[in-house]
Amino acid sequence: MYLVRLIYTSEISDGFGPNDIEDILEKAKKNNAECNVTGLLCFNSTHFLQCLEGSRKAVNETYHRILNDTRHRNIIMLNYCEIVEREFENWSMGYIPYSKLTTPLNLKYSGSSAFNPLAMSAGSAHKLMLALRDSLLAHAM
Ligand SMILES: Cc1cc2nc3c(=O)[nH]c(=O)nc-3n(C[C@H](O)[C@H](O)[C@H](O)COP(=O)(O)O)c2cc1C
Repeated sequence: MYLVRLIYTSEISDGFGPNDIEDILEKAKKNNAECNVTGLLCFNSTHFLQCLEGSRKAVNETYHRILNDTRHRNIIMLNYCEIVEREFENWSMGYIPYSKLTTPLNLKYSGSSAFNPLAMSAGSAHKLMLALRDSLLAHAM
């Protein structure tokens, strides 16, 4: 089945606890590895920006579970499209924490240096995630 990419943003719900992000990442990595979904999750302690890529069926099923998760709200799909290749093939779910989101990259892709996915076009949000991926890869070497 051919590949799709889905990008959405959301914000934490009231009651989101300090351990929730670890739980989300653990579950995401396990589930995504099982259904060959790959992607990236950015989180600055209030806002999420996530990219999911994989087969249409796997991405849709994953997104439906995510939509029903009460740990976040105001879930807004920014982009859904067919793709010819993956861009995050090394990560069942890569993670970009707050410390990496305070970079000038925000200024490059939005009107301010703050991380605010709602202030970005879908194209800018996508490009920001590619730039964050590249900076992660560069630091891993
Ligand atoms: C911001 C956010 C991102 C998430 N990303 C994923 C994901 O990529 N894959 C996944 O399976 N679950 C993800 N989850 C968790 C799902 O909402 C859900 O809790 C989980 O898939 C349930 O898995 P289970 O049925 O195996 O218990 C995410 C949740 C949140 C709040």
